[in-house]
Amino acid sequence: MRLAICSLARLGGFLSTILLATALPSGETNFMSVRENVAKDYESVTEIPQDKYFSECALISTVPPSSGISGPHQVEEDAESSFHYHYDGRFAEAPLPDDQVTPHLSALIRTYLTTMASIGAETWIMHGTLLAWWWNQKIFPWDNDLDVQISEPTIHFLADYYNMTQHHFDIPGVSGGRTYLLEINPHYVVRSTQDRLNVIDGRWIDTSSGLFIDITAVRKDDEQRQRGNTEALMCKDHHRYDESQIFPLRDSYFEDVPVKVPYAYTWLLEEEYGPKSMTNKFFGGHKFNDETKVWDPIV
Ligand SMILES: *[C@@H]1O[C@H](CO)[C@@H](O)[C@H](O)[C@H]1NC(C)=O
Repeated sequence: MRLAICSLARLGGFLSTILLATALPSGETNFMSVRENVAKDYESVTEIPQDKYFSECALISTVPPSSGISGPHQVEEDAESSFHYHYDGRFAEAPLPDDQVTPHLSALIRTYLTTMASIGAETWIMHGTLLAWWWNQKIFPWDNDLDVQISEPTIHFLADYYNMTQHHFDIPGVSGGRTYLLEINPHYVVRSTQDRLNVIDGRWIDTSSGLFIDITAVRKDDEQRQRGNTEALMCKDHHRYDESQIFPLRDSYFEDVPVKVPYAYTWLLEEEYGPKSMTNKFFGGHKFNDETKVWDPIV
């Protein structure tokens, strides 16, 4: 299956190639330079925001369909509507039919990974998406979201040059293709975990359905480093890592496109989900078929 990127994205890729070319040190880029890059120092905005930038889908009827992509969206949170937690209210009129969720998620992650690779933005999969990769390099059929991470220099790069960019893809079987929007939370410059309302640093949004991927930045953990842990990294959602657990990233495939996975993936999965998560073949109403490597629904 081949995805075609339109001229907009290509232009973006071209621009970023120039930008990256000037940003890279001369000579060989080796692992140590990557590590230095990860651990780059960033000032934090000290004031903790009172507003939540990204909202999930809310009372759909209150969102004018034409509200489009013009920035932050102060839609009311509807605690009871948890079923559309993973839809962006500006684009979602209703949740997708169940059988449409996995194909839409698959197109989301494929277009995201392809775009990030073409603009030179380093990203990798984490959490439930990494566990799904571990089993068969496919999205879990019962999943309704995807988790990706980026490094702190990458969030700065995306915020500076790619915020609110639209990327159109021809998708086999989808008439007219789909347009995806990359949106970066302006509060990404607040590095504190106290910013509980803005733990998500960016989103890759399918503007046809409102379905999105959350993007979280992995940052240098200043506090831990001061206490002597020289490799400490953190996310605003309180996940903590050591540099050597994530880097160097490994190359693999997910949903048939190239993906990067954290270096110590088994260790990370075991810590987050327990060792059984990698042996238990019954999950989410499905059984893992060792022959076909597919999660079959238990009927
Ligand atoms: C991205 O663009 C939106 C819409 O203009 C804006 O609200 C938001 O603050 C921008 N994010 C960053 C990181 O500048």
